[in-house]
Amino acid sequence: MLSPRRLLHLSRRRCFATKSHYDETVVYKYASQQIKPVSIGQLLKYRRQPLSVENILDSVGYTQAELPVRLAKRVISFHKLPFIVGTNPHIARVYNQYYEAFDRLHAFAPISDLEAEWDFTRALERQTQVLLDVIPTIAQGFLECQLYMPREERTSFINDLIRSRIGLRVIGEQHVALSYQFREEQKKAKQNHNAAVSTAVEPGRVGLGATGEDVWVGAIHTRLLPARMMEQCGQMVQSMCEMHYGTAPGYYVDGDVDETISYIPSHFEYITCELLKNAFRATVDFSHSSNRSSHPPIQITITKGEGYVGVRIRDQGGGISKDNMRNVFEYSWSSMQSGDSADEHGANGGGSLMAGMSLQTNLALQHGIGGPIAGLGFGLPMARLYAGYFGGSLDIVSMEGYGCDVFLKLRSIEGSVENKQI
Ligand SMILES: Nc1ncnc2c1ncn2[C@@H]1O[C@H](COP(=O)(O)OP(=O)(O)O)[C@@H](O)[C@H]1O
Ligand SMILES: [Mg+2]
Repeated sequence: MLSPRRLLHLSRRRCFATKSHYDETVVYKYASQQIKPVSIGQLLKYRRQPLSVENILDSVGYTQAELPVRLAKRVISFHKLPFIVGTNPHIARVYNQYYEAFDRLHAFAPISDLEAEWDFTRALERQTQVLLDVIPTIAQGFLECQLYMPREERTSFINDLIRSRIGLRVIGEQHVALSYQFREEQKKAKQNHNAAVSTAVEPGRVGLGATGEDVWVGAIHTRLLPARMMEQCGQMVQSMCEMHYGTAPGYYVDGDVDETISYIPSHFEYITCELLKNAFRATVDFSHSSNRSSHPPIQITITKGEGYVGVRIRDQGGGISKDNMRNVFEYSWSSMQSGDSADEHGANGGGSLMAGMSLQTNLALQHGIGGPIAGLGFGLPMARLYAGYFGGSLDIVSMEGYGCDVFLKLRSIEGSVENKQI
């Protein structure tokens, strides 16, 4: 007879077995392998040199061996969730996405030529797209399951998921970027013989920072202009705020606006958008509750430090009360009442849209804003985790009844955190 423990274990596993073709022995085999951490310095070793075929095959060799192991470990981590949490449709959806990503990548035969490498790279790119909405989906899932899992366990599961996701993305994106860089170099070399050939640039890689040669080292932009990033995110969040509330404050960027940093733009963008969403929302809400006739603008100040860039986001959104301050860095804690949210359950969850999220949020996701304007309670804890991952920090000073100053410090990846293992 099966023990209650074993029954619980089986039921946990069964609640995720939504796809009959999953072969669990394979995933367990991969998950039992050790991950091989890589330092940022190792990932950057191909910088500023023409890439050779050996470099690309070397890079794809590591990526192909490493990612399935890391994905398999994530898949298994879901099996340890309480049964009822595993039945939540949002959490089950993320589980399936991880399983499918594992399935897709581990199925590739060992790669020894450029043609196979390109197929693998395209699969990696598609996988990044599929996993784009993991965070808001999991946030929605845990919001609905708060009662069924102790806070510490929830926090530890989410932190592990996010940290491993950063590693997966950095390794995956690094290879994709190198692969594009290699092909671009090849085309340029050909262009010397034939001026009519156009160059391929990976989508989404323009307009983020200072111009010039060698600004990208794989997924890292070595001369990213924080001021420009803040401008772009400000525009996106302002539109989102207008869509949600019908009104939005202005904003301006000042300080060391010509300062550059070497950083992963998608991380910078994620952190920035979350902080701006909070500042915009607080300003509009406080204008409403205090009968203010117009919104004071949000001030974004960039400062240059030794090996880092500081960003201060100053709003006049009424600040955070002492009691709430204790909670704001907790996952799933939000002062937004359910019902205020733009994302009441599944107005339009069909097609390729993210199930259970509004059209507005889906648009936001497609533009990299990562979720609704507020309500999931993931913005601050995740922004702090992201900032801390590469040695940065995130702090809030609140003046209750007036507003908040949010201090973000990001360390330049190139140079200062090259020993960081991911
Ligand atoms: N700039 C700010 N001004 C006032 N309150 C804020 C600010 N930033 C964050 N908060 C408070 O912290 C809470 C948690 O923020 P966050 O983690 O981003 O989750 P969410 O925005 O989904 O509520 C918010 O609900 C809000 O109450
Ligand atoms: Mg927020």
